[in-house]
Amino acid sequence: MTCIILAAGKGTRMKSKYPKVLHEILDIPIINWVVKTSQKILADEIIVITGYKAQLVEEVLPEGTLCVRQEEQLGTGHAVMMAYDFIPDEEVVVLNGDVPFISEETLKEFLKFRKDNNFQAAVLSMVLESPAHYGRIIHGKEKIEIREFRDTNDDEKKIDEVNSGIYCFDGKFLKKALNNLDNNNDQKEFYLTDTLGMADKSGSLIVKDNFEVLGINDRKELAFMNKSAKERINNNLVESGVTILDPETTWIGPEVEVGMDTIIYPYTYISGKTIIGEDCKIGPMTRLHESNVNNNVVIQRSEVEFSNIDKNVSIGPWSRLRKGNKIEENVKIGDFVELKKTKIGKNSKAQHLSYLGDTKLGENVNIGAGTITCNYDGTNKHKTEIGNEAFIGSNSSLVAPVKIGKSSLIGAGSVITEDVPDNALALGRGRQITKKDRIKK
Ligand code: UD1
Ligand code: MG
Repeated sequence: MTCIILAAGKGTRMKSKYPKVLHEILDIPIINWVVKTSQKILADEIIVITGYKAQLVEEVLPEGTLCVRQEEQLGTGHAVMMAYDFIPDEEVVVLNGDVPFISEETLKEFLKFRKDNNFQAAVLSMVLESPAHYGRIIHGKEKIEIREFRDTNDDEKKIDEVNSGIYCFDGKFLKKALNNLDNNNDQKEFYLTDTLGMADKSGSLIVKDNFEVLGINDRKELAFMNKSAKERINNNLVESGVTILDPETTWIGPEVEVGMDTIIYPYTYISGKTIIGEDCKIGPMTRLHESNVNNNVVIQRSEVEFSNIDKNVSIGPWSRLRKGNKIEENVKIGDFVELKKTKIGKNSKAQHLSYLGDTKLGENVNIGAGTITCNYDGTNKHKTEIGNEAFIGSNSSLVAPVKIGKSSLIGAGSVITEDVPDNALALGRGRQITKKDRIKK
């Protein structure tokens, strides 16, 4: 089966420099919600019709998606014609790039509906109280026709079953119908909708939940769709055994997984492919992105991205884990600690005011308050290694590249520029001078 996704339009009402389908719902471009659903129904080929600022759209599409350009937007039928050479004789599904929440289940049911009824073409329709400007579904004996609102007569305007813009075809029939399309209508466009009336047998399936076929046309609708997506995801998580204390202020992306008995506190934002284990406490005021968090981890008022955190770790408040950290079990990261590309071994602690970048820490290491790894010399980044059981005194600067041996101790306030062997004490600071009674004099 081949999926064709229409996404060549500009989306004028978004009032944007960018094509409409690039605006995001929970950090994922609208178009990719549709592409992902096409992947879920196991499409052999996914073709996206791009047009307005095509290159920008093509850049965000997942690998393996085929793009076909429609340089001039002459209608939905014309858009599908652009993919003519890729249309197989078998099943073809046409989706709208700006209708993000069509579900896998509904699409599967829709495909079955067409096959069971032997229709050459079928449309997914909805019944609306005020059908507004949607195309009307007109039922005949063996087939349906779709009439665009502006081409309808007064009786047809009263029809409340309308076209959602999602179709399914027999490929052979679709190719024949495309060859016969004309643009004799009010807009002088080639309408894909005209194909339904060209079939010997065609029909419509009314969608159970209109929400699934809602499109996005302006930023108000974009905000509404973000909120709706959030509510659905939060509901699913709550039903699967996660506590979300304030669903109103909790934003979780569609690819996030959260284990049972984890508690999410208010004002928390979790995105990307983040996986959180069981019995964790996340938030309040925390942002997690593309990270793996094992069981029983506490993260408060902190930011974590592209990092792996093992079990029983605690992070924050007010810490920031940037890209590429690996934190082993029982580690404690306290307040105002920034980590980047850093590995921290079991039971180690960095509790206060530190920057550790490009660093490898062993197990049971203690990082004193204010410790900084000076990893950047203005041109290149360098590595710091700290052995097991080492103790770094407060306010030390470790000038990389540098190695601190196992069980060694760095005196507080040191600037360490040379490697320190195992079991050594290293001091690198000015000696204190005390002048008695100097103040009185
Ligand atoms: C279309 C349907 C209408 C239906 C409605 C549902 C037609 C003729 N009408 O109307 O019956 O009720 O959708 O939302 O199909 N596009 C292209 N190239 C083009 C024109 C459109 O790629 O030349 C894309 C748009 O980017 C959009 C989709 O096709 O994703 C639908 O186009 P739009 O202009 O919104 O069609 P409507 O007038 O809303
Ligand atoms: Mg539209």
